[in-house]
Amino acid sequence: MIAKYRFGSPFPTEATVVDLPCAQGSPAPFCAAEPEEGERRLGLHLSAEDIVYGLGEQPRGINKRGWIYRSWNTDDPIHTEGIPAMYGSHNFFVVCGEKPFGAFFDCAGRMTFDVGYTDPEELTVTAYEDFDLYIIRPDGARETAENQSDRTPAPVLFPVEDIVRQFRALIGQSYIPPKWGFGYAQSRWGYASEGDICEVADGYAEAELPLDAVYLDIDYMERYKDFTVDLSRYPDLKGLNAEMAARGIHLVPIVDAAVKVEDGYPVYEEGVEKGYFCKDAEGIPYVVGVWPGDSVLPDVLNADAREWFGSGYKFLLDMGIEGFWNDMNEPALFYGKKRLETAIEKTGEYKGKNIGDIGGFWKLSGLIGGLKNSDEDYNAFYHDTAVGRVCHGEVHNLYGYYMTRSAAEYFEKYAPDKRFLLFSRSSYIGMHRYGGIWTGDNCSWWSHILLNLKMLPSLNMCGFLYVGADLGGFGENTTEDLLLRWLALGVFTPLMRNHTTLGTRNQECYRFKNRKAFADVLSVRYAIFPYLYSEYVACALEGRMLFRPLSFAYPSDKRARGVEDQLLFGDSAMIAPVYEQNAKGRYVYLPERMKLVRMRGAADVSEEIWEAGDHFMEVEPGEVAFFLRPGKVMPLAADAAKAKNLASLDESKLVWLKFISEDTEYRLCRDEDGYRKSSLKDSFVRVVVKA
Ligand code: GLC
Repeated sequence: MIAKYRFGSPFPTEATVVDLPCAQGSPAPFCAAEPEEGERRLGLHLSAEDIVYGLGEQPRGINKRGWIYRSWNTDDPIHTEGIPAMYGSHNFFVVCGEKPFGAFFDCAGRMTFDVGYTDPEELTVTAYEDFDLYIIRPDGARETAENQSDRTPAPVLFPVEDIVRQFRALIGQSYIPPKWGFGYAQSRWGYASEGDICEVADGYAEAELPLDAVYLDIDYMERYKDFTVDLSRYPDLKGLNAEMAARGIHLVPIVDAAVKVEDGYPVYEEGVEKGYFCKDAEGIPYVVGVWPGDSVLPDVLNADAREWFGSGYKFLLDMGIEGFWNDMNEPALFYGKKRLETAIEKTGEYKGKNIGDIGGFWKLSGLIGGLKNSDEDYNAFYHDTAVGRVCHGEVHNLYGYYMTRSAAEYFEKYAPDKRFLLFSRSSYIGMHRYGGIWTGDNCSWWSHILLNLKMLPSLNMCGFLYVGADLGGFGENTTEDLLLRWLALGVFTPLMRNHTTLGTRNQECYRFKNRKAFADVLSVRYAIFPYLYSEYVACALEGRMLFRPLSFAYPSDKRARGVEDQLLFGDSAMIAPVYEQNAKGRYVYLPERMKLVRMRGAADVSEEIWEAGDHFMEVEPGEVAFFLRPGKVMPLAADAAKAKNLASLDESKLVWLKFISEDTEYRLCRDEDGYRKSSLKDSFVRVVVKA
C-alpha cells in the first residue's frame, strides 16, 4: 500500500518507475514541523522500541537512531562517524515499530534526516527543495508470503521486508552485472603502465591466486582526459585487453565526470560546439578544477548531452572493454575557476605583510582550502533539462545517477542484450537500475570493515545490490591481517575489489607473507559463487535484499533486533566477520540453532551445530566462518580451489551444505553464458537436495 504526496513542484528525478496519483491530505504519520525559511519540515514521534532502518550510504549504525544524516552527494574521503554527507543520497527509510512503515523522499536537492539527534524521541526530515513523499505500509495480503515469485517454498516476508519489496517494485529492478563482475579484482591508483598491469596479473598467477579483473585508474588516460589513452604508458590497450582476456582477466577502466578544457581535444571541442556542458548564468561553460585541471561538466541532465557523453564509452568498448567505474561524479570540484582566481589575488594581498594573529593564517589557508566542493560553485551553474533551465544546486544529488545512466543507455544501444559491468561512486535512488556503487575512499582502518558491513543492508533496501567497499582500505597503509579479515567479509559482497590510493604500501594479495591464507580466503569466494549468484539474481528479480539485518527475519527476538555486526546473507546464511585487530575471533549471537561452517579454503570445510544464544567463535586469519540457518541449503562449487577466475570455475559439480531434516528444493541460477539479459529469468533450475 503506497500513498504519494506532492510538496510543491519537484524536479522529476525518475527515481521511480510507477506513476502513482497524488493523495490529498496530510501524510500521516508525519506532521508538519516548524520550518526555517526556505525549508519544508516533517516530523514524527519515535517510541522507545522503534528502529529506523535505511538511508543507504551513510555512516554509523544499521539502526539509524541517534544521529543526523545529510543527503548532499559529497567527495569526502574521511569517513568518520561525524562525516557530514557521503557520495550518495538514498532518502528511503523504514520505521520499524508497532505499525511499521516506509518513507521515500524523492528530492533532487539537499535534505537532512534528524533521527533522534536533536530530540531522541523525534524524527525530523528537512527538505530544501520540493519533493514527492511516498509512504509505504505493509500490504496485508502479502504480509507473510511473497506472491509475486514462483519460488517454492516462498520465502516468508515479514512486514519490514514487505515494505522494502513494495518500495523496490516502485523504483524498478536492480542492476545485474555480468557474471565475471562477481570475481575477485585488483585495483590501485598508480598502475603507471602496461607493465604494471602485467606484473599484477603475473603476480596473482605465480602465487596461484585467482583473479577476474584488474582495474585501470586515471593513470591510463592521457593527462586525465576522458576517452583517451596515454600511449607512452599504454601503447596498445586493445592488445593488452585481448591478452588479459585470453587469461580470463578483464580490464576495467575508470571514467571521470569532468572533461578537460583543452583546444584540440575532440571531446571538449565537440561538447562546447553542441552546448553540452553545464553553463553559468550567461550561458558560458562553467569551468571547474578536477584531476585534469580546468575542466567542464557534461550536462547529463540534458537528454541529448547524456546521449552524447554515453557514446564516448564507444572508444573503450571498441577495444573489447566490458566494464567501467564512474568516478568524481558528485560532481567533485577541487575549485571553481573564477573563485580560484579571486582567491589567488587575495593571497597576494598577504605578501610581505604580517599575517596578524593565527586567525589571519587560517583565513589565508582557507582561501584555497575552502574552494573545494563549494556551494557557491554548485549554485552558479545550470542544467538544460526537459523542464527548463535548472540551477545545479537544486538537483545536485542526481548528477552521478545521470552520468551512470548515460553510460548504461549507450551500452543498451551498443549491444542490446549484453550485460556490462558498471558502477559509480555517486548515486541516487533510480541509479540502482543502471549500475552498482562502491562506497568510495575508505581507509585501512579496522572500523571500516564494520562500516562496510553496516551499509550493506541499508543500500540493499534502496535497491543497490551490486555494492562493495575498497577491500584492504583505500587511504593509508594496510596490513596483512587487516586485508585478510576484510577479504573474509569481501567474499560475500557482490563487488569484491581490493583497491588503494597512490603512494600507499603494495596491497596485492601476493605481496604478503602468508600466501596460503590469501589463497584460502579467495578460493572461498569461488566456492560460494553458485550460491551468491543464485541469491543475487533472485533478489534483483524479486525485489528482495541480499543482506538483511537479523531483526528482519527474527522480528520478535529482542537480542536480534539490536545486533549490529552480523547479517543474514541470502536466504540460507548468516555472516559474522571478525573486525578487530589481533582478535582471535569474536562473539556471535544465534537467534536459533544454526550450523557453523568453517572454510579453510574451498576444499577444507568443517561443520558443527551450535545452539541458540551467545558464543565465542574462534576464527583464524584466512579462514571464513559463517552459519547455515535451519531448513536451508547452500550450493558450493566442488572444485573451486582450482579456479583461476570465474571463467575457469567448474560450476557443474556442486556440493551442498545443508542443515535440513527433509528434502529441500533450491532454485539455482544456471546462467551459462553469464552475459545475456534476456535469458536470465529462465536460467533458474529447481534442484531437490536430499536430506
Ligand atoms: C577517487 C576515487 C578513487 C580513485 C581516485 C583516483 O578518489 O574514489 O577510487 O582511485 O579518485 O582516480
